[in-house]
Amino acid sequence: MAAAVVTRDYSLTGAESAHAVEQQLAEAEWYASPVPREAMRELLERRDDLALRDTALWFGLLFVFGALGYRWWGSWWAILPFAAYGVIYGSSSDSRWHESLHGTAFKTDWLNNVLYEIASFMVQRESTVWRWSHMRHHSDTIIVGLDPEIAVPRPPKLGRLVLSFLGYQATVAYFRKVWLHCAGQIMPDEKTFIPESAWNTVYLKARIYLAIYAGVVALSLWHHSLLPLMYIGLPNFYGYWLMPIYGYTQHAGLAEDVLDHRLNCRTVYMNRVNRYLYWNMNYHVEHHMFPLVPYHNLPRLHELVKADMPPAYDGLGAAWREIIPALRRQATDPDYYVQRELPKAARRRTAAHEARTVVSDGTATADGWLDVAAADSLAVEDVLRFDVGERTLAVYRAGDGEYHATDGLCTHGGTHLATGVVMGHQIECPKHNGRFDVRDGSPQRAPVCVAVRTHPVRVAEGRLQVRLNGGA
Ligand code: FES
Repeated sequence: MAAAVVTRDYSLTGAESAHAVEQQLAEAEWYASPVPREAMRELLERRDDLALRDTALWFGLLFVFGALGYRWWGSWWAILPFAAYGVIYGSSSDSRWHESLHGTAFKTDWLNNVLYEIASFMVQRESTVWRWSHMRHHSDTIIVGLDPEIAVPRPPKLGRLVLSFLGYQATVAYFRKVWLHCAGQIMPDEKTFIPESAWNTVYLKARIYLAIYAGVVALSLWHHSLLPLMYIGLPNFYGYWLMPIYGYTQHAGLAEDVLDHRLNCRTVYMNRVNRYLYWNMNYHVEHHMFPLVPYHNLPRLHELVKADMPPAYDGLGAAWREIIPALRRQATDPDYYVQRELPKAARRRTAAHEARTVVSDGTATADGWLDVAAADSLAVEDVLRFDVGERTLAVYRAGDGEYHATDGLCTHGGTHLATGVVMGHQIECPKHNGRFDVRDGSPQRAPVCVAVRTHPVRVAEGRLQVRLNGGA
């Protein structure tokens, strides 16, 4: 008799969740490939122009295909423009949603936030819920019991997976949750990653989403025509198919419960059209390893780290030739996974070690100032790590050339801020893109909610000095 297939508990409140915490897999330190510091500084540069160009083209294509669909509505010719409109709306909104969620699409953050709200609506993801869910996905990527975004739990249900290309399941799940949120309910799983302070926003946005859909349905009924729904609502069925073709390549069939993105993510080479539609999310190992790097710099990052990675897949076909047999085997053998081979010469190094670090022996002036470094050794919009005894700080030079210092560890998840990126007066944490104002330590961008402690700095005879708040 064949042994029963054991199903793991993928909920965020079950035994697997507690087990993952016991195994120290929660909020753990992940492997990061070595990247020269100067090269990383260049890669982290944010720009508005490229995302403005790409977004204008994206909305322009939606407008042109939408207008042609309107013009030809009632004839078979309308199928062609709506096929294109549907894919841009129902599939490529996923990557716009993703990049703007990370705040890396644009340099100007309100542009990220506007695109994020629009793309969230289009891709049918509640923006507040998914902002928090995706933070968790980055902290605990494919850790069973912790990651809310595991797309293909083992053993995979193959029939459901095939049907998922129609968009039906995703839409049903979306409206079910929107309905519950409208009624003021947060699911137990959601409570593990959405802070209570955000619940009212979840309820409000769910009501807005439902009101918009109700309006579109009413318009269709009023005109006795499907046409309004062809623009909003139905694209999530007829234009959805490309999203899983791209999306399942990210993690399907790969290892669970490992702390190395090279083992649980795929980087897949794609042609220019696919890379435009997918906004370079095909460089998925690189994105997970360095989520601060904007989409337009991921190909350059890939060139720098590829010697430290398993080989990238030579196209979508190559990735799917691995995924399909892997999922078929997992259906009867859930312990099976694709083992990615790591380069032998790979060096173990983590992002925290990449920060430029100054270690002080604790010797201070009579009035308590500790020497850090030559003031001009810190470039504008630069940061270094400063360790003294048990304390670790981040010392910054802001966009206006002024110096500041804070405690080193992010108040959200404990990642060292000296591995983040300085933009103007803000430091962005490398783990979940939370931000602090380095002048007063105040939180500036979710998920950080608690201020980081600041410390006085001064420049004396060309030397940068810091005095510890709270004593040494
Ligand atoms: S660790 Fe989450 S934003 Fe810093």
